[in-house]
Amino acid sequence: MGTYAVTGAASGMGRAAAERLRRDGHTVVGVDLRDVEVIADLSTPTGRAAAATEVLERAGGRLDGAVCAAGLGGIPGRDRLVQQVNFFGVVELLEAWRPTLAAAGNSKVVVFGSNSVTLTPMVPERAVRALLDRDADRALRVVGRFGKRSAPFAYASSKLAVTRWARHAAISPEWAGAGIRVNVLAPGIIATPLLEEQMARGEREAVEGLPVPIGGRGKPADVGEWVAFMLSPAADFLCGSVIFLDGGSDAYFRTDDWPVSTGPVGVLRYLRRAKAWRARR
Ligand code: NAI
Repeated sequence: MGTYAVTGAASGMGRAAAERLRRDGHTVVGVDLRDVEVIADLSTPTGRAAAATEVLERAGGRLDGAVCAAGLGGIPGRDRLVQQVNFFGVVELLEAWRPTLAAAGNSKVVVFGSNSVTLTPMVPERAVRALLDRDADRALRVVGRFGKRSAPFAYASSKLAVTRWARHAAISPEWAGAGIRVNVLAPGIIATPLLEEQMARGEREAVEGLPVPIGGRGKPADVGEWVAFMLSPAADFLCGSVIFLDGGSDAYFRTDDWPVSTGPVGVLRYLRRAKAWRARR
């Protein structure tokens, strides 16, 4: 049996994942603002540092995996909070836990992204880059240019950045090379308190009007099953993947966008990366 850190374990999908892991006999150290083992505010650097340390203490210095589900929806007036929790609240914790995850030998990380990364049009790449550069003020300024309509851009840019960070980490010597599998789960419309809040705060029409080819809404308990699977030995070969669990919304909007064969730029990139890979071995 393993020991897993789960952020956002007090509600919704994080809670469902924690319950599922506990049912299997694993030890879970939950992180959230309330009702869990480690009470911490992931929107501040000090809260994140305290959470990272306390989790390791409670885990007895061993982590077989981590699930980063803590997150906030895009609601007007809280762009900074959204970026702090959804991006920094994932990467700073995982970076602090990396040596412990590496020491476990074959560990796994599930990062919660979102299908907003492909469904929200016109997300400013500069906001994503600012987050990846760890420049929170710049990221906030970029999305702030959308004025009163900035909330969905703050949200989608935080999820794009965390997804991009995870893909880079996943293939690197520090993570893949240390036996840590990093993957992203990108949910669509899942019936959780976060979704209820979005609908109560003016997003009802957008949520109800979103094309979902298979129909309905996802259930947190089913997402918990996916998380358990992505942490299980069956997922040993999963690395750097973004799994859309969204009833087909991403496929609906991007049917022919991906996968695509690359053009000349792709050939050059392929050759460059293949050479770098040979140099690494
Ligand atoms: P939820 O609201 O039910 O749970 C999120 C948890 O994060 C809550 O327990 C909350 O207290 C915690 N959290 C928020 N701010 C925090 C902070 N400053 N410090 C510590 N903990 C904090 O939400 P849900 O729906 O389960 O979301 C889980 C993840 O999935 C989030 O990252 C969300 O962005 C993502 N997601 C959700 C979708 C949905 O339709 N529900 C769709 C796509 C992505």
